Amino acid sequence: MSFTTRLEEHKLLAPFTTFAIGGPARWFFQANSEDDVVEATAWAHHREIPLFVLGGGSNLLVADAGFNGLVLRVDLHGTSVDPGLSTSHKIYRAAAGEDWDSLVQRTVDQNCAGVECLAGIPGTVGGTPVQNVGAYGQEVSSVIDRVRAFDLEDRVFVELTAAECAFAYRSSRFNSTDRGRFLVTRVDYRLQVDGPPSLRYPDLQRAIAEHLSPGAQPTLQQVVALVRNIRQSKGMLLVEGDPDCRSAGSFFKNPIVAKSRLTQIAAAAAKEPPHYPVGLAPELAATVKIPAAWLIEQSGLPKGHALGDAAISSRHTLALVNRGKATAAEILALAAQITAAVHDKFGISLELEPVLLGF
Ligand code: EPU
Repeated sequence: MSFTTRLEEHKLLAPFTTFAIGGPARWFFQANSEDDVVEATAWAHHREIPLFVLGGGSNLLVADAGFNGLVLRVDLHGTSVDPGLSTSHKIYRAAAGEDWDSLVQRTVDQNCAGVECLAGIPGTVGGTPVQNVGAYGQEVSSVIDRVRAFDLEDRVFVELTAAECAFAYRSSRFNSTDRGRFLVTRVDYRLQVDGPPSLRYPDLQRAIAEHLSPGAQPTLQQVVALVRNIRQSKGMLLVEGDPDCRSAGSFFKNPIVAKSRLTQIAAAAAKEPPHYPVGLAPELAATVKIPAAWLIEQSGLPKGHALGDAAISSRHTLALVNRGKATAAEILALAAQITAAVHDKFGISLELEPVLLGF
């Protein structure tokens, strides 16, 4: 079928997002191949039509009026496993439209370590390098070998190494300096054969102590199961019928502040703030990450606080949820109330974490 017969118009976007919110895309196209990507982006380029690349819709808030442009849904599939250069590692080459959680399950079933703590995260492979997906002590940046992408400026396919992606906390060149320039079509992950699971995160260590006998070394499969349990307890696992999971995961980033500000934050809250290292690099040593969820609660906004059908999740303060018929406007009004409260109390400006479309 030709491109134009496959091109859809006025397609409602809400069903393509985990928030289940958002109006229509003026044009909508599902790309099943790299050729489709080239053709669809050329079509938009020649007409000067704004382009938005849609993956799993799990980190996205679409405006109620929708998007007056072309939404290109990346529906590229296929995963191959290459032995790589050594016997200790394998390269998983996954097309951007592959379901992320299914890929994690497959790597663990094949006894490869490196993404086991990232189980249960909704979305597709293509989104993982863009926001450098991370949870429970792992970030994809530590295992990404290469990212294949279509460069919309030079109109060629490129393959970028991890260093060229400029990864940082919830960030990469794809969502910062080069936002909108690259369309990810494939990601290669370098995973360790028979490697041990990563057990760095306190919540995970607690779950292991609770569920396994003392001294037992958990398997990758066990870690995946425990991570899924923790995510579910926080309403961060997509479970049919669970009202807390109609969300975009964390709605705010955890702010990074100078260590020297901790005393002032403690004074404002009248208690010690929890805080975590930002990373291992020496230049990050003078800063700490503070959980935004904690700052929000200390600012007087508890779990379950609602504005119409938009609410703070009843299980995790960092997730805003759509309780039924919430509009994007309601979600943003609630977010504004939260950022104002945190700013008034602590002088910290929270940054939104999901991508906004059509605002
Ligand atoms: N906390 C609260 N109230 C809550 C939840 C948490 O005060 O309702 C405080 C507690 O002090 C807790 C701390 O926040 O110890 C950390 O909580 P949690 O372990 O749940 O992690 P988070 O910092 O809230 C981040 C990521 C999550 C990721 C988890 C686990 C961001 C923006 N979020 O959340 O990622 O799953 O760590 O690693 O960095 C996402 O990006 O969408 C996401 C869900």
